Order: sequence, then C-alpha cells, then structure tokens
Amino acid sequence: MYFYWLILSKIFKMVIRMKKFNSVFFIIISFLIIPTIYAQKFEGLAKTPPMGWNSWNKFGCNVSEKLIMETADAMVLSGMKDAGYQYVVIDDCWQIARDSLGFIVADPQRFPSGIKALADYIHSKGLKFGIYSCAGNTTCAGRPASRGHEYQDALTYAKWGVDYLKYDWCDTDGLNAEAAYITMRDALYSAGRPILFSMCEWGGNKPWEWGAEVGHMWRTTGDIYDCFDCEYSHGTWSSWGVMKILDMQDGLREYAGPGHWNDPDMLEVGNGGLTVNEGRAHFSMWCMLAAPLIAGNDLTSMSEETLEILTNTDAIAINQDALGIQGFKFAAKDSVETWFKPLENGDWAVCFLNRSSTPAKVGFDWKTKVYDDFSKRDLGATKSVYQVFDVWKKKSLGDTNTSLNKEVPGHDVLMLRLSEK
Ligand code: GLA
Repeated sequence: MYFYWLILSKIFKMVIRMKKFNSVFFIIISFLIIPTIYAQKFEGLAKTPPMGWNSWNKFGCNVSEKLIMETADAMVLSGMKDAGYQYVVIDDCWQIARDSLGFIVADPQRFPSGIKALADYIHSKGLKFGIYSCAGNTTCAGRPASRGHEYQDALTYAKWGVDYLKYDWCDTDGLNAEAAYITMRDALYSAGRPILFSMCEWGGNKPWEWGAEVGHMWRTTGDIYDCFDCEYSHGTWSSWGVMKILDMQDGLREYAGPGHWNDPDMLEVGNGGLTVNEGRAHFSMWCMLAAPLIAGNDLTSMSEETLEILTNTDAIAINQDALGIQGFKFAAKDSVETWFKPLENGDWAVCFLNRSSTPAKVGFDWKTKVYDDFSKRDLGATKSVYQVFDVWKKKSLGDTNTSLNKEVPGHDVLMLRLSEK
C-alpha cells in the first residue's frame, strides 16, 4: 500500500505539470488498476479444488521429516499422485522457536535436515510442499505463530520453496480477521513465490464473504472429527462429525468457484472412525461440494478400501470439474438426501445420500424438474436423454428414459454421473 500512495503522488505531480485534461482519465485508471497490482493473491493456483495430504487429522503434533518423506513416497507409489493429489502439507508443530533475529526455527530433533531440504525432496517426487502457521501470537498447539512476523515468514517460506500455506486463527485477540489474512496475503505476494493460501478461520468471521480476494480456500467450520454424525466436545469448543459439517455448508455454494473454494475441512477417510460405507459417503459428499480433497490418513499403511475410495478417478473428476460449481441439495425425504452438481459439457453428478444406518430405497423419475437457480442449468431430461453411470460400481445403469429404483446401504451413497447421449 505504501507503494500505491507513492506512485499515486507521483501521478498527481505529473498531472499538475502536464495540465492536460486526458490526465484526469489517467488518474481514474490508476486508482482502479494500481491496487490490483500491489495487493492481490497469486492467481491461477487453484482453478479446481486443491488436492493433497495434511498431517493433522492422523498425526497431530507427531510430525517429522521422516513421516513427511515417507508420506510423499507413498503418495507416488500408491497411485494417489496419478489420481491428482499434489500437496504434502505439514500442519502444526514443525516450528519450535524464533531465533534472535525473529526468524522461525524448525524443531531440529524432528527436522534435522531442515525444511528447505524437505521441500527439495518433495519437489524431487514431482509433488508440492505445504506448511502451516497462524495469524495469532501462537498456533493452536502453542507454537510460535506469525503475528508481527508476516513478511519475515513469507520470505522464509519463499526461500524454502513452500507452495502452500495453511494459516490458522488461534490466539488472535484484538485482530480483525479480514485484515489479518490480507496482511499475510500481501506478505506472500511481495515475497514473490506463488504460494496457495489456505485460510483456516473456522467460519466465525464469514470468510466466504471476503475470502475470494484474499485466499484460494477458506475453512467454513470448526474442526472435523473422525465420526459419521457426532459432536465431540472439547469443553469450550466442539469438533464435528462428517454429517454435521455437511449441514453447515448450507447457503455457501454461491461463494465458491475456480480459484476460491469453501473448505469443509480435511478428509477422515481411513482414520478408523468411519466404516467403509461412511468413508465412501464422506468422500462423495466432499466431491459434490467441490471441496478441497486433502487426505488426512496414514498413506504408508492404507487398507485397499481406503485407497480405492481416495483414488476413485470418476468421483475425483466430479470434484475437479472445470466449471467449479458446488453441488446443492435438491431434496430430502426420510433419511435420503438427493444432491445435484452441474458439470461441464452438459453433464451432471447426482448423489443419493442415505443418512440412516439401515438400507433405504431410492427412486427417481428423471423427468422431474431440476433447475439450478445459481448456475441457471436445467437438467431437462424431458428433452435430453442422459447415460447414467454408477461412479462406485463403475457400471452403466442405462439411461434417463427409465426411472431409477435402487437400494442404498446404511450411511452410504449412490453416486451417478449423467452424460448427455
Ligand atoms: C486448528 C485447525 C486444525 C489444525 C490445528 C493445529 O484446530 O483448525 O485443522 O490445524 O489447529 O493445531
């Protein structure tokens, strides 16, 4: 902003010297353009929802360079990289102190080779490297955070080769959320290295209302918990099961789109608290929401079912669809919710979510009027005929001339892709 005023005052002086009418237009244009040059996020980093892995859900503070390197290896060897996962992100607890000049210091016991070497290793695998800090004085785990050190930290991250920053909201008394996130955005931008900015403010200050200009994704809720539909109380705050988080996304879809996503928190698939059906339902709904797909399990010891869920390329294609339109709940009847998501080339994703623990019959007459007011898309199956493809069974279910009649197991989904014939 300092540069903004400096350049503006130079323009004023020029105009006074030139005394030309055209210069007035010049000033107006400058007012419009200069702020976008000197205060902005890096564009083009998240045209589709970011995909990767983060240490927190499974490992908490138990992070080390060994874990992160083994995770990067596993991301490649398991096929997750080929399925689209890209970022390997260390969450809280990598940092231990600041040095006498205020530079952040990584825990030397857990990261003996240093963060730059770790970033190099991850890059050598064709992956991208993410790190964590917080807008307050201390992080949520009580480590040194970035308040008052934003530009210094951004420069450090750029020097290390960081590609992604998750920025939390603990210990922020007296801070204005939008201003604090803008400060870090500007610090990252002025450090010069494109870094995806993942804002973790938990939704209290409605980041969806101001986040598109500031970051690439913003948490919409408090922390996820590894259960299907519970609330886990920590005393003064709660973490939330998958269904609780899903319900909190209501009314937010219009804020998301290419480059700026609602983030309902990282995945719990494969962490032990969800059955296979529940894990599949969780993953499917995050795909329908166009949510960032940040795995949160131990990639070095995944069951086949977990890997199958995380690497279902047909589900991922729905999440990564280039239109970037978040899906919507079309209907809810008894325990079954029906969700639609408009996709490119006239396709649609449809997901029937059975929230009950017992199986449910689902029926759908494709001639039903389905109109999405936000995208202005009309399913129009009275005019068009779609092929119906079952994303999890990986088989065709005929076309939309025939009504759907299926059974969905408890806490599971039937997820379909409709493609115009
Ligand atoms: C907060 C965030 C979590 C995680 C922890 C780390 O609770 O919401 O996702 O980053 O902090 O301490």
